[in-house]
Amino acid sequence: MATVENLLALGFKPWEQPHPSVFDPCHACDQAHSDAACCCNFFLCESQGLSALSGSLRRSPIRKLTGSRGRVLVVDCSSITLRTSASPFAAAGSSAASGGPPPAVFWLTGISGAGKSTIARSMERLFGRFGWQLCVLDGDDLRAKLNADLGFSDEDRAENVRRIAEVAALMADAGLLVAVSCISPKASFRKAARRVIGDARFIEVYVDTPLAVAEARDPKGLYGLARSGKIMGFTGVHASYEEPSLPEVRIDTMQFSSDEAAAITHEYYVTTRIAGGSLAPRRQAESQQVPSRSVDQAISGDKL
Ligand code: ADX
Repeated sequence: MATVENLLALGFKPWEQPHPSVFDPCHACDQAHSDAACCCNFFLCESQGLSALSGSLRRSPIRKLTGSRGRVLVVDCSSITLRTSASPFAAAGSSAASGGPPPAVFWLTGISGAGKSTIARSMERLFGRFGWQLCVLDGDDLRAKLNADLGFSDEDRAENVRRIAEVAALMADAGLLVAVSCISPKASFRKAARRVIGDARFIEVYVDTPLAVAEARDPKGLYGLARSGKIMGFTGVHASYEEPSLPEVRIDTMQFSSDEAAAITHEYYVTTRIAGGSLAPRRQAESQQVPSRSVDQAISGDKL
């Protein structure tokens, strides 16, 4: 049995991100652990904040060790690789034939400039490092082609969201993981999308960025055009955005970078859709502990 001391000697490091309960490929080889030949076969994380996780992964061979840097949790990730003979995904409802992770649709909602697309791309990279392909359906991309006939009236936005939900549902039917980034400004649109995709597969991710911050970033210059009257019906300026009241995941982009946001969604997915646990209470508690940054800091900083 490995000890903390010899794992550290091998080059493992406890995870020391501001968000401590991040799953990530190990520091020693930086390989996605879908590869059975991986040289290390361990995730090594700080245990702080991981008690819910260890509880929800009861059937996994988790070993808790004590090291000089405090309690350390070691998870034998051979139990959650894609190529092991006893894949936990079969039990979690994924197609036994594919042996892949259970399909899910992460529905990233938030105002323009909130950081939805950036987080979706970070998720694509992070999930990819675990050997899990995650397909991104981006509102801007889809409006260029599939939804090119639609504008920004309420009716057109509802139709835009409906079509995206139908496509995402078909992709989930095929066993895929999908991240949709789309303003989807009304609760009724998102409710309809949830109905099409199915509650069990739908993960609403609220990318929560204050309007002042998104507007100051204005990556596409659209807020400027909206304020000067050159674009009408712009969300947040002339048209309302209804905040989700109970999203599965809320990302406060004043606190978390896009990579941290991706890790939060990944952790939510693994814990609730693979291990059958719950993270919501802990997420709230963590959010309360992290001081929010000022609007100026958020605009000028390296966060979203
Ligand atoms: S939704 O409201 O129908 O869900 P969607 O996410 O597909 O919107 O597209 C939003 C993108 O369209 C924005 O990121 C922005 O680039 C562009 N856009 C152009 N006009 C508007 C507008 N009036 N309101 C919001 N976004 C707009």
